[in-house]
Amino acid sequence: MDRIQLDYTSVLPFASESEIALQRAKGVEALASLINGTAPGSDFLGWLRLPSQLTREALERIDRCAGALRQRVEVVVVVGIGGSYLGAKAVIETLSGSFDSLQAPPRVLFAGHHLSEEYYVELERYLEHRSFGICVISKSGTTTEPAIAFRLLRELLERKVGREEARKRIVAITDERRGALRLLSGQEGYDTFVIPDNVGGRYSVLTPVGLLPVALAGFDIRALVEGAAAMQARSLEKGDPMALDYAATRNALYRKGYTTEITVNYNPRLHYVIEWWKQLYGESEGKEHRGIFPAGADFSTDLHSMGQYIQEGRRELFETVLSVDKTKYPLVVPSDDLNLDNLNFLAGKRIDEVNKMAELGTRAAHVEGGVPNLQILLPELTEYHLGELFYFYELGCGISAGILGVNAFDQPGVETYKKNMFALLGKPL
Ligand code: PA5
Repeated sequence: MDRIQLDYTSVLPFASESEIALQRAKGVEALASLINGTAPGSDFLGWLRLPSQLTREALERIDRCAGALRQRVEVVVVVGIGGSYLGAKAVIETLSGSFDSLQAPPRVLFAGHHLSEEYYVELERYLEHRSFGICVISKSGTTTEPAIAFRLLRELLERKVGREEARKRIVAITDERRGALRLLSGQEGYDTFVIPDNVGGRYSVLTPVGLLPVALAGFDIRALVEGAAAMQARSLEKGDPMALDYAATRNALYRKGYTTEITVNYNPRLHYVIEWWKQLYGESEGKEHRGIFPAGADFSTDLHSMGQYIQEGRRELFETVLSVDKTKYPLVVPSDDLNLDNLNFLAGKRIDEVNKMAELGTRAAHVEGGVPNLQILLPELTEYHLGELFYFYELGCGISAGILGVNAFDQPGVETYKKNMFALLGKPL
């Protein structure tokens, strides 16, 4: 297997092929409206052909900037929230070794994705005695959480190394013309990258928003983009229906009362891919009192917490499993002379084989318990396959929102909490 695949056969006991075909027909129209630019929110369709349009020069510039900062510092703090955070976090968490952060400089840390005072005090203490740089990301340039984090970190950096050196260690990714971050970057002379006008935050992982932090962490952005471009060609030129099938299947289930999709992994490295997916689908589809609720779980960990609910709770869930075919290293269960735990029947078997049987057994149990099941199969965890997966999910989301009849590219509901928060804080009008 050399590319990602979708299997929805375990949905068929719950939604028939003809019910799925009905939604697929709507999906074909939704896909056409994305391709010909007539979908609602059509000003934000830049992601659709982005992978094939990224030039070698653009990728080289990102790599050069990342290389220069990597030389200069031990730690880079990436500041951003939502779409300006989750894509990069997903790639870096998926591809990093579990204990790499203890060794491979520069260490990439994140900030600006919440308002925890403890976190910032501890971060400042950590950075006080280390050389660091900042990669600040905000499309609007005015989002409160990253703006506060950037104020704190810029102040610390300038105090430690002086304003002149700080300017060389700060990179900003923002709108081409508008916003406070663009203004400040111009004034201070920071190196900057542009988030294209026609790409919304949650669709921006393949712009500098995702690519620069990934390059800073030392991963291969070309392979990521190649994977996405291959999926783009597969979907838009070769007529491969994977994204269409996903969108149609989830909508067929939604119409039958399955209103929550729980995406699960059997490898904790994929935790943030699911967080990224939750934002993409939740923010794109949850409007006008409609939409499938996107939830996530890490298995087998959460089988010991959420497993009971999934097996026997309210029957409104369907499950999508992110399966990984090949793992990176082999490791077998050791034999034990005492065998007090009675596990010698597993001796010599790969841990991954035990994990795969946990996956197979759980999928069967959930289907038996009334939970329709989809499977997305990744050959292995590499930049290339993550690129494929990102593009698949973005296209699937655009189609699915089209079937649902909502604009996938706005997020009017996100403003309400901000209005209340600013009123409570006494922001001048
Ligand atoms: O998808 C979106 O538009 C949002 O999640 C934004 O990415 C998030 O609110 C951050 O916005 P900004 O990049 O303007 O700081």
